[in-house]
Amino acid sequence: MLEQNVNDNSSTIALAGRRVIVGISGGIAAYKSAELVRALRKAGAEVRVVMTAGAQEFITPLTLQALSGQPVATDLLDPAAEAAMGHIELARWAELVLVAPASANFLARLAQGRADDLLTTLCLATRAPLMLAPAMNNVMWQALATQTNIDTLRQRGIALLGPAAGEQACGETGLGRMLEPFELAAAVARHFHQGPLAGVRLLLTAGPTREAIDPVRFISNRSSGKMGYAVAAEAAKAGAQVVLVSGPVCLECPPGVQRVMVESAAEMYAAVMAEACDLFVATAAVADYRPAQTQSSKIKKDQAALSIALERTDDILAAVAARGVFSVGFAAETDQLAAYARDKLQRKGLAMIAANWVGDGRAFDQAQNALEVFWGDDGHHSIELADKAVVAHQLIQLIAERYHAQHPSKDS
Ligand code: CTP
Repeated sequence: MLEQNVNDNSSTIALAGRRVIVGISGGIAAYKSAELVRALRKAGAEVRVVMTAGAQEFITPLTLQALSGQPVATDLLDPAAEAAMGHIELARWAELVLVAPASANFLARLAQGRADDLLTTLCLATRAPLMLAPAMNNVMWQALATQTNIDTLRQRGIALLGPAAGEQACGETGLGRMLEPFELAAAVARHFHQGPLAGVRLLLTAGPTREAIDPVRFISNRSSGKMGYAVAAEAAKAGAQVVLVSGPVCLECPPGVQRVMVESAAEMYAAVMAEACDLFVATAAVADYRPAQTQSSKIKKDQAALSIALERTDDILAAVAARGVFSVGFAAETDQLAAYARDKLQRKGLAMIAANWVGDGRAFDQAQNALEVFWGDDGHHSIELADKAVVAHQLIQLIAERYHAQHPSKDS
């Protein structure tokens, strides 16, 4: 289904004539870059390939030349290549630079701002947005050095696509696998797609949180994360740059969305506050209380009764709204839905609030949902009961409308 996404009419329109540089650094995933170039060309993009020395150990420039229909650039100091299309010209030509795979070494060099080969020089010399598709062994990905480089690159506004979790070429399993070529091509198509949220950085929370009682027990809730993930997917389709901070759920990360997994309300708070955004949507069912103390050993059942003292967690939504960010809250109510929702809208300083009825098997872990959306003094819109993806689509359209009404300069 995803593969169809990049080859369907909307992607073809989005990529027709777009000038994309595919940078390839040294890693076993380089073999997948051939398929990526093919997919981008098929969707109508003009593609130029730049390879590092390491990349050429895994795949030949000739293969990429055949697939891109253009000479492949490999050397910074090659007089013939510079005479044809030099690195500055290439940097100006590009509307987007996607490095796939981006190895740990490449990320480190980019983070340091080095210009010691053609690809790093190009990344420095271009004004085009950069996208990176990291690929490496999962331990290398998790290494503090790599994560520090990733943070640096993210703060520069560079988009990260993946990595995905799964089986790796090294025989291990974990986070570090490059996204599939069709997923990368779909992300490129989304980048050029002029949806109602094009260019908007949207941060979203989803799922439940877990508040530890002891090493084996926690307090949590029934949230499945389905509604939040559907909203994240629709926001990405609407052209937003989406970062999803998710509590523990059994859901795949939607294509084109950057996901940060957390457990507790405190971790969710920290992850959210570390991200800059234009628009915040809080769908997470964040625990309002956590055990005042987490026991370091498993609690034994040697008492007839047990009380656990709870303390309040910090309100993530209110904290983001207090920064002046256009913030959308969710409210799950069992009664007086409109009154409680409007009260939350006021109290937390929100731009909008989407409320739904819960209890009697409604909303939680269901495939369908219905929403009552409120904003301002008397703004109100009902989204009828439908599949969560359909509801999410309508909600995103409504959010985009209200957002642009308040930010006319960002309107496209
Ligand atoms: N929220 C948050 N951080 C918290 C608690 C809630 O970001 N620590 C967000 C949720 O993601 C949701 C909204 O706030 O968007 C829900 O508001 P809240 O007042 O927590 O709702 P309820 O818990 O349902 O409120 P009440 O106590 O009135 O039942």
